[in-house]
Amino acid sequence: MIRAILFDLDGVLVDTDTLHYQAWKELADRLGIPFTQEQGNRCRGISRMDSLEIVLEGSDRIYSQEEKEAFAQAKNTRYQQLLSALTPGHASPGAHVLLPELRRRGYRLALASGSKNAGLILERTGLGRWLDAVADGNLITRSKPDPQVFLTAAELLGVPPRQCAAVDDALAGVQAGRAAEMVTVAFGDAALHQAGDYNIQSLEEMLPLFPPLEAGR
Ligand code: G6P
Ligand code: MG
Repeated sequence: MIRAILFDLDGVLVDTDTLHYQAWKELADRLGIPFTQEQGNRCRGISRMDSLEIVLEGSDRIYSQEEKEAFAQAKNTRYQQLLSALTPGHASPGAHVLLPELRRRGYRLALASGSKNAGLILERTGLGRWLDAVADGNLITRSKPDPQVFLTAAELLGVPPRQCAAVDDALAGVQAGRAAEMVTVAFGDAALHQAGDYNIQSLEEMLPLFPPLEAGR
C-alpha cells in the first residue's frame, strides 16, 4: 500500500525545467556551441556539473576544471535571476490543488529534488507549505539515477521505500525511483517514453491513482 508520495520539483511541480534550459542555452550561445532541446531533456534530473558536460558535448575544445566551474557558476547566477521572477502562479497547473488534496486523502508528501535551488523555488511558489519533508541537492552526494534522494525523502518521512511513489519527469529520475524500489509515476517527458509504472501528462491524472487512505491503517 502506498502511504507517501515523493515529488521531483523541476518539470513536475513547477516548470523550471524550461528556465534551466534557457540558462544553459544562453551559456552555450555565448561559447558558440549548439545546444538542442534533446540535449536539454537529457539534462533533466541530473546534477549541474553533469548537465554542463552535456552542454559541452558540441564543443571541440577541452576545458579545464576551473573553466567548467566558472561556466556552472555563470549558469547558476543566470538561473537564479530567472527564478527571482517566480510567483505562486508559476507552480504547475493544478499543483496548489493536488498537494492539499493528497494530504487530505492521508498521504505524506515530500520533495525529492537534486537541485540546490529547491528551497528558493519552494519559497517563491508557496509550494513548500504542502510538504512534510524536503530532500534536495544540499542533502545528497549522488544524483539521480542514484536512488539516494528518494531514499532520503522516504527516511525523512519515516515511511518504508516500498510504501512510497516517486513522481518524476526525467528518465534518470524514474530510474532512481525504481532503484529505490518505489512505485514510479513518470510525468511529461519521461511519460512520453513510457518509463514509469504509471505515465501521466497532467497533475490531475494523479488523483485516480491515489484514492483516500483508510483511516487507522
Ligand atoms: C534538477 C534538474 C536538473 C538540474 C539539477 C541541479 O534535477 O532537473 O536539470 O541540473 O536539479 O539543479 P541546480 O538548481 O542545483 O543547478
Ligand atoms: Mg525534473
